[in-house]
Amino acid sequence: MNYRHAYHAGNFADVLKHSVLALILQHLKLKDAPFRVIDTHAGVARYDLTGPQAAKTGEWNDGIGRLLGPGAASMPADVAEYMAPYLQSVMALNAGGSLQHYPGSPLVALGLMRKTDRLMANELHLEDVAALNASIGGDRRVKILQLDAYTALKSLVPPPERRGVVLIDPPFEARNEFDRLAAGLLEATRRFATGTYLIWYPAKDRRAATAFQDDVIAAQYAKAIAMELVVGATRNAFALNACGLLVINPPHTLKATAEILLPFFAHRLAQGSGATCQVRWLGTDSVA
Ligand SMILES: C[S@@+](CC[C@H](N)C(=O)[O-])C[C@H]1O[C@@H](n2cnc3c(N)ncnc32)[C@H](O)[C@@H]1O
Repeated sequence: MNYRHAYHAGNFADVLKHSVLALILQHLKLKDAPFRVIDTHAGVARYDLTGPQAAKTGEWNDGIGRLLGPGAASMPADVAEYMAPYLQSVMALNAGGSLQHYPGSPLVALGLMRKTDRLMANELHLEDVAALNASIGGDRRVKILQLDAYTALKSLVPPPERRGVVLIDPPFEARNEFDRLAAGLLEATRRFATGTYLIWYPAKDRRAATAFQDDVIAAQYAKAIAMELVVGATRNAFALNACGLLVINPPHTLKATAEILLPFFAHRLAQGSGATCQVRWLGTDSVA
C-alpha cells in the first residue's frame, strides 16, 4: 500500500469527485429523513497544500488552484451555482482567503451533513486512520473503521437509515482493482439497492476504463451514469490525465448538471491539447 493521497489532494480528479459528491449530498438533504455516507477509502480529513508532499507534485495548482487560486477567473452563473456547496467546503478550511488546506472526502461530507446524518469513514492505512481519529474522531456523527474497503462495504450495507451515498475511491494500485470493484458493487447493490453509489476510476488506460463501463452495462443497473474528464497532455507524461466517475442511482438532476459542469472543467482544468469530457448513460432505464 504505497499510495498517499497527500501528493494528489485538490487535483483535477478531486475537483470532479468532490463536486459531484457535494451535489449528491445536497440532493439527499432535500428530504428531512437522515442519511448515511459510507466512505470506503476515506484518506484523511484535511490536506496541507503548503506541505512537502503537495509541493512535490504541485497537482493542486491545476485543480482547485484554477478555481479558487489568485487570479482565478469567475465562473458562468449556472456553474457557480452547482459548484457552490463544494467550494464552500474548501473555503471553510481557508478562512484567511489564501488556499492552504484542502478537505478530503470525509470533511466534504461532514461540511454538508446535518446533525442527524452519519458518516462511516473506512481507511486501511494506519497513519491515515490515526489522523482521521485526531481530526474528526470526536464528532458524534462519525464512525471510523480500519478494514479492507470491500470487507467494510459488505458489512456496512444496507445502512439502518436505508438512504445515503457510498463513495468508493480506490487507489488502483492492485492489478485486479476494476474486477474487485465490479464484484463489490454487484454485491453491495443487491443488499442496498436504493443507495446512491459514487465510484471514482482512472481513465488514462482507455481499454481498462471501457471494459469497466462494459461490466457496468452487463450488470444491468437500472440507473447509472459515467462521466469522464480528460485534461489533455500533461507536462509529466506519466501523470494521470483522465478519470471518470460512475454514479449508480444518481439524483434525477445529476446528468443534466454534469453536462454543464464537465465541459466547464474540460476547459478550465485543461493542461494541454486533447482536453475533453463525456457524460454517458449506462443504465437500462431510458435516459432521464
Ligand atoms: C484516492 S485515496 C482516497 C481519497 C479520499 N476518498 C478523498 O476523496 O479525499 C485512496 C485511499 O485508500 C486507502 N486504501 C488503500 N487500499 C485500501 C484498502 N484495501 N481498503 C481501504 N482503504 C485503502 C489509501 O490509504 C488511500 O488513503
